Amino acid sequence: MGTSEAVLQVLSGAVPRLFHSDSCLSTSDSIFASKFRLKCSRRRASRYLQFLKCSSVLQYGVRGIGSGVPNKKADPSSLQICKCQKSESVSGVTTEDGNGAWFVDNAKNLNPINGMVNAPNVLEFQDLQHLKQENEGLKSNSANGTLRDTFHKISVDSIEDEAWDLLRESVVYYCGSPIGTIAAKDPTSSNTLNYDQVFIRDFIPSGIAFLLKGEYDIVRNFILHTLQLQSWEKTMDCHSPGQGLMPASFKVRTVPLDGDDSATEEVLDPDFGEAAIGRVAPVDSGLWWIILLRAYGKCSGDLSVQERVDVQTGIKMILRLCIADGFDMFPTLLVTDGSCMIDRRMGIHGHPLEIQALFYSALLCAREMLAPEDGSADLLRALNNRLVALSFHIREYYWVDMKKLNEIYRYKTEEYSYDAVNKFNIYPDQISPWLVEWMPNKGGYLIGNLQPAHMDFRFFSLGNLWSVVSGLATMDQSHAILDLIEAKWADLVAGMPFKICYPALEGQEWQIITGSDPKNTPWSYHNAGAWPTLLWQLTVACIKMDRPDIAAKAVEVAEKRISQDKWPEYYDTKRGRFIGKQSQLFQTWSIAGYLVAKLLLADPSKAKILVTEEDSELVNAFSCMISANPRRKRGRKNLKQTYIV
Ligand code: GLC
Repeated sequence: MGTSEAVLQVLSGAVPRLFHSDSCLSTSDSIFASKFRLKCSRRRASRYLQFLKCSSVLQYGVRGIGSGVPNKKADPSSLQICKCQKSESVSGVTTEDGNGAWFVDNAKNLNPINGMVNAPNVLEFQDLQHLKQENEGLKSNSANGTLRDTFHKISVDSIEDEAWDLLRESVVYYCGSPIGTIAAKDPTSSNTLNYDQVFIRDFIPSGIAFLLKGEYDIVRNFILHTLQLQSWEKTMDCHSPGQGLMPASFKVRTVPLDGDDSATEEVLDPDFGEAAIGRVAPVDSGLWWIILLRAYGKCSGDLSVQERVDVQTGIKMILRLCIADGFDMFPTLLVTDGSCMIDRRMGIHGHPLEIQALFYSALLCAREMLAPEDGSADLLRALNNRLVALSFHIREYYWVDMKKLNEIYRYKTEEYSYDAVNKFNIYPDQISPWLVEWMPNKGGYLIGNLQPAHMDFRFFSLGNLWSVVSGLATMDQSHAILDLIEAKWADLVAGMPFKICYPALEGQEWQIITGSDPKNTPWSYHNAGAWPTLLWQLTVACIKMDRPDIAAKAVEVAEKRISQDKWPEYYDTKRGRFIGKQSQLFQTWSIAGYLVAKLLLADPSKAKILVTEEDSELVNAFSCMISANPRRKRGRKNLKQTYIV
């Protein structure tokens, strides 16, 4: 059976997915693979039961372990299993190995007063203090430049060393192989919630850091294991989401081996949102997975992973899920609130920019990786059409700058016609007073969301930065976004890079839009808190636009506090002055984000593993679309100044 045929059959549920062996299975590949296939077949068959015996399927769907459903025994056949009889570890970091011991020992050495992390660092810190005093004593002396440089270098080097130690400590093992990094590892906190899991989106900066360091195995393992989870039979109250969905996170659990009390086995237990707070669907996971897959190939030179039949099938499943026809009028992806990094209610349901930027990026990456074959011609055609329509839509309708704001301010409304200027019937009163003040003369950005009669004018950082990285924004728009970041430094960076969005929802707006969410109070967490992890996306964007100095400045701001503050997940207040109220400490993607920023600034050419550019084919298609646009036909004179194609 040809690949395309297989894909079609798999998509229609006619045959189980084919799985290939992976590193974890290296000793018993074939046995495991066939066993897994059998299990998949069994689950496929059980689909029919869902209609008949809903309650029992529900038990099946929640999979027992840790599900919070009493008296439901784990069904080990529904978990990805690797029998590792010696393992005592749940998360993969065992207390017997050297690394585990390091963590425990050093946790005891935590010094809450000066905020240092571990003994070696306390010593280094004292040395640094000493150096600093000497340095200050010499301030009036013109010869102190070298000393200051030395002090700065030692201090920065020690932060980087500490970050690498912490990142390695966060690695999760499955059957002895590294497969991901835990979301946060704060030895002083008992409130881990689900931060003890490997989140797909959180692993991206970890994976990139390892790739840039030449450590490819963990990324390869991550890609292949999460791919296997993609085919999971997932249900929430009898409903199954689409087949290409990737989990938000997964956990390695150690469970007793069936029929043998003296042994244990490790299982991978994914969460597709069916256990997540708010039951949010992780739409971004699959998109990030495709982006990481391309980066892996580009960085390691190993294209064999993306060429595998199961990986090709995985890419196509994600794509088909995203580009399936629906009721949509727009080429943007329609999603519920909380379907991305902002994974709780924040009023971003609809067509949030972050998802559109990742979608565009994933489409471009997939286009590069999909093997040309007869069966994928339709998919490729659909993909190309979507790329053009999506970039046109975002560049045209999401873009705001002073000029465009003024246009909106003077919009006519209720235009019933094919060539309306105000296509979405935006009422000019939606331009909030904050925006009139905030928009700089030089610069602009892509708005957060666009729906009929609704523009969400909030600035969302990840969406804007990734639009630069992926080329969803034009070159001129990309520069304008960086201009705005420079102009609004005091709001977006201030004491800690980088605000997740701006401004915060306050008062009644906060009550209505977040549902009075106490975690998302104004200037906290997703509601305009500052997230150090965003440093890496900022750095890639700045490098792409040949303006790395902006990122370097932001890294310097972070370096002043991030290690002493114990690598928080996020910061609160308008200027990012406090460590977030409920922020996790030793948050892995804060650590990895910093490291990726440093590594890329040290060798900017490496950013190409993440950057995508439009090729001539797309540019041509885009130009045709622009000239066919009725709005343009009507001859707006200054068009070129606003949108550069
Ligand atoms: C929070 C963040 C989410 C992240 C998770 C794990 O829920 O909103 O983006 O993936 O924590 O760090």
